[in-house]
Amino acid sequence: MPILVTGGAGFIGTNFILAWLAQGGGQVVNLDKLTYAGNRGNLAHLPADSYELVVGDIGDRALVGRLLAERRPEAVINFAAESHVDRSIHGPAEFIRTNIVGTFNLLEALRSHVSGLSATELAAFRFLHVSTDEVYGSLGPGEAPFSETTPYAPNSPYSASKASSDHLARAYHHTYGLPVLTTNCSNNYGPFQFPEKLVPLMILNGLSGKPMPVYGDGLQVRDWLHVQDHAQALMAVLRRGRVGTTYNIGGRAEMANMEVVEAICSLLDELAPDPKIGPRRSLITHIADRPGHDRRYAVNPDRISAELGFEPRHDFASGLRETVRWYLDNGKWVESVQSGEYRSWVDRHYSWIDGGQGRKGPAGQGGGR
Ligand code: NAD
Ligand code: DAU
Repeated sequence: MPILVTGGAGFIGTNFILAWLAQGGGQVVNLDKLTYAGNRGNLAHLPADSYELVVGDIGDRALVGRLLAERRPEAVINFAAESHVDRSIHGPAEFIRTNIVGTFNLLEALRSHVSGLSATELAAFRFLHVSTDEVYGSLGPGEAPFSETTPYAPNSPYSASKASSDHLARAYHHTYGLPVLTTNCSNNYGPFQFPEKLVPLMILNGLSGKPMPVYGDGLQVRDWLHVQDHAQALMAVLRRGRVGTTYNIGGRAEMANMEVVEAICSLLDELAPDPKIGPRRSLITHIADRPGHDRRYAVNPDRISAELGFEPRHDFASGLRETVRWYLDNGKWVESVQSGEYRSWVDRHYSWIDGGQGRKGPAGQGGGR
């Protein structure tokens, strides 16, 4: 039986599908709307008997219902979402549409589907909802990392929409018996990440000698996990997780943004030196802070470690080096995603970089609007 992946043409979905198939998993049907963040080319090389792309919306209940009825997947893994905090500040509507209403429609299609399964089929079926640590809000410097019992306190339209979707998934388990698993993961980095996010944005701006825009003092802390470790964690949850349970996933790798950006500068200076650009650190430009910027995220991954034996394989230093190399080696991919939509985002959000008149700042701070 296949699995149905939603949002599999994005960053984490692509890495998950590649890992799933490389490890002998069954056929994958990928339902993806192909927004600006989805890239059909990521997986186009996969053979048709192991991978199929269906272009569509998780909010299209009839389409999802049809896919469930015809393909009869053993599991559904939901990656589909609007995922960029800054875009949610510019325009929250799409986040409400996909992350909340879209997930609701997906859950409704699933509810209807499982009502027709036999007891044995239902016992084997899983819905894995992929979520984020941002639902827990922001930590102070000395506070304990987020555990699965930390109260939700989302601060951005993005995290509020993901929190809503988590609550809906939970409710569909408790009320309708849908076999739901939920994961809340920390910041991912690695191959195929769209260059609006910190790590690839800094790699590509540094590579081409453009300013490297750090919000505020750059001392905000994130807990970094290599995307391939996230994929392994999701497979462990899917195969052995307890239905109805939430698992936090993190890298035990808290880093201030400045540390990450400086590490990228050093790697670029070593792997792609350019005398015309000089030391990349000179490109670091502090700009106005993100509105409502969460100061610190950190994840306590004890549950997934104790119950499922999951531990990340990548340490941040070698994972970041590998990631920088990937972006250096994949110029065609980079070119293909830096097309019209990407340019228009950069122009809106960072207009000052290419000589715009706005104050140096992201959305809502007078820059690039
Ligand atoms: P992404 O933005 O790279 O990819 C999202 C994918 O979903 C794209 O392929 C897009 O085309 C697709 N999509 C968007 N709206 C859709 C819709 N209505 N119907 C069908 N497909 C749609 O996101 P990502 O970074 O790969 O994140 C995947 C999931 O993991 C998201 O739910 C995100 O909240 C969560 N997450 C991300 C991170 C991270 O660091 N990137 C960390 C924790 C959790
Ligand atoms: O914590 C998990 C979350 O991580 C996921 O749920 C989100 O989908 C994912 O986008 C990510 O959210 P962040 O907001 O943490 O990621 P981002 O890459 O946008 O920013 C990381 C940090 O870097 C954050 O503190 C903001 C800062 N930053 C980001 C950009 C794009 C900058 O200083 N400058 C920038 O230009």
